[in-house]
Amino acid sequence: MRKFALVFLVVMVPMASLAASGSGVELKSMEVRLNDTRSLQNGAKLFVNYCLSCHSAEFMRYGRMAEDLEMPVQLVEQNMIFSDAKIGDPMTATMPADKAAEWFGVAPPDLSLTGRLRGPDWLYNYLISFYVDESTVSGWNNIVFENVAMPHVLTELQGRQRAVFRTEPSEDGTEHKVFDRFEMETEGTMSAEEFDHAMRDLTNFLVYMGEPAKLDRIRYGMFVMLFLIVMFVFAYMLKREYWKDVDVSH
Ligand code: HEC
Repeated sequence: MRKFALVFLVVMVPMASLAASGSGVELKSMEVRLNDTRSLQNGAKLFVNYCLSCHSAEFMRYGRMAEDLEMPVQLVEQNMIFSDAKIGDPMTATMPADKAAEWFGVAPPDLSLTGRLRGPDWLYNYLISFYVDESTVSGWNNIVFENVAMPHVLTELQGRQRAVFRTEPSEDGTEHKVFDRFEMETEGTMSAEEFDHAMRDLTNFLVYMGEPAKLDRIRYGMFVMLFLIVMFVFAYMLKREYWKDVDVSH
């Protein structure tokens, strides 16, 4: 019983506090597809182009990414490294962290492990939920991360959307605002569907970064299963061979 209580404390309490840090909005679900290399490649492209200026991913090296996502080293060197980093270097933000903290009030956190910390559903919803809000410093707000210090860096792709809220009665007789829907103010270069796809790819990539070895495990897992099946056939034949002259009937 004591053990159970301990497990409860260690596992459930951080989970509950993470969940509480959201705004209670229902999250749309996002299916992670780590064996979809095309999707991961697209996610990586978006990540280096739109996120790496502010966020680092210190646990990920360009070379490892190139290898895992089956991208030629030369292509990565020429098109995906915008600093003077080498292919073997970790992915470090181009903006110095102290400068970023000064500008945004909060330092943009390292995104290596965000996939694990926040989970795919939260990340995907976060990326599609920025809306115009004149009352904040950056002019942006986010449905799943209230008063976030990050501006909507993908405006060009998604366009500008506004959030429409409705009021609902609270238990204590007062009223509170509940998110109802988004309304597009100006269009972006992508259609709603294209943007949705792009954000699923980006989330896929963020989840991959949280645990790159998982890709290897999926690949090895296939081989191991195949090996076991083949071994079983041989083992069975061998067993028949050994036992064929043994008379077990008495
Ligand atoms: C202009 C700088 C900037 C850029 C570019 C940027 N971010 Fe951010 N991001 C921030 C800041 C600042 C925060 C901290 C927000 C806060 O805590 O209020 C943040 C927070 C986040 C968080 C929340 C982390 C957490 O768990 O609290 C995620 C996830 C994130 N960014 C993802 C991205 C992705 C993906 C991109 C690329 C599409 C991106 N960011 C581009 C500045 C930036």
